[in-house]
Amino acid sequence: MTATLAIENVSVHFDAGDGPRRAAVREVSLAVAPAECVGIVGESGSGKTQLFMAVMGLLRGGARGSGAVRFEGRDILGVPRRDLNRVRGSKLTMIFQDPMTSLTPHLKIGVQLAETLVSHAGLSWQEAERAALQMLERVRVPEAQRRLRQYPHELSGGMRQRVMIAMSLLCEPSLLIADEPTTALDVTVQAQIMDVLRAVRAASRMAMVLISHDLGVVAGLADRILVMYAGRVVESAAAGDLLAGAAHPYTAELLKCVPNLWGPRLARMPSLAGSPPDAKTAERGCAFAPRCPRAAERCRVERPLLRAPEAPTRGHEVACHYPVAATAVTA
Ligand SMILES: Nc1ncnc2c1ncn2[C@@H]1O[C@H](COP(=O)(O)OP(=O)(O)OP(=O)(O)O)[C@@H](O)[C@H]1O
Ligand code: SF4
Ligand SMILES: [Mg+2]
Repeated sequence: MTATLAIENVSVHFDAGDGPRRAAVREVSLAVAPAECVGIVGESGSGKTQLFMAVMGLLRGGARGSGAVRFEGRDILGVPRRDLNRVRGSKLTMIFQDPMTSLTPHLKIGVQLAETLVSHAGLSWQEAERAALQMLERVRVPEAQRRLRQYPHELSGGMRQRVMIAMSLLCEPSLLIADEPTTALDVTVQAQIMDVLRAVRAASRMAMVLISHDLGVVAGLADRILVMYAGRVVESAAAGDLLAGAAHPYTAELLKCVPNLWGPRLARMPSLAGSPPDAKTAERGCAFAPRCPRAAERCRVERPLLRAPEAPTRGHEVACHYPVAATAVTA
């Protein structure tokens, strides 16, 4: 079966004048199957956004991506913008933490939604307006008819994020990349948006990448979770396996902070002591070594590669010389 998205060996570097290039993402590979939801977690600066900006062809400010990205079997990394635009915005879409960055401030919501359908799906204005209304209702926007005539600044943050989700779903995409979709919202609204995403998944075969620094957000929706640290994937497993038996000491430390694993909220990432290495730092050994309770001499000189832990469950991979034994982590 062709993966919806296949990322192979993707790195992102920033030019830094005369100095060494900064590595934001280092040799990441992952695949997303049709209808699958993959969660990406990692603390601030771990490279989550830059990785998917590279996928979307949206890298800016001296950032350069390398490696291979295939969307439904077609190479998309480095293809001309004109060709990429054909899939981006219709079959491959991304939503961000701040929906204002993607909404046009001086256009009414209805016009923005309908325009997407007219330009990408070739609908008439009348058909597009009807479809826009239906989509707002589908993402549970109350008083949808009235919202169509409002401007983005007249809506709350949660309502704007629903509009963004509606806009990204209009052309029935094969893949939705949601980058911290609930981070700017209060807890009640976060839960509502996650419910909307859950309902959208249940009603379609759309694949999803859910990016968050909040393991709780990802755990509630993802089939598989990848943990990123300092630009690399350090652990990858089915969501249940990762939450019940993390093998990487970083993931295990994060889970230790969890007050109640199966409760409504899990720990937020930044509760871990110390800070990750700067993207300018040259890589030697394991990037997590300065913060790792299990670090030994080997960790400081030899970089651990992603591989199955000693007692693997299917598809579980970890980059660690001394992984944590498969013990269930509980409250
Ligand atoms: N314009 C830039 N110039 C240089 N380095 C940058 C630039 N933008 C991002 N970076 C670096 O790239 C690395 C990865 O950033 P990225 O935004 O992908 O992290 P993230 O995991 O999405 O974090 P967050 O949870 O805060 O969104 C960081 O170390 C950051 O300093
Ligand atoms: S390789 Fe060593 S330092 Fe890195 S996570 Fe594993 S035990 Fe810790
Ligand atoms: Mg980010």
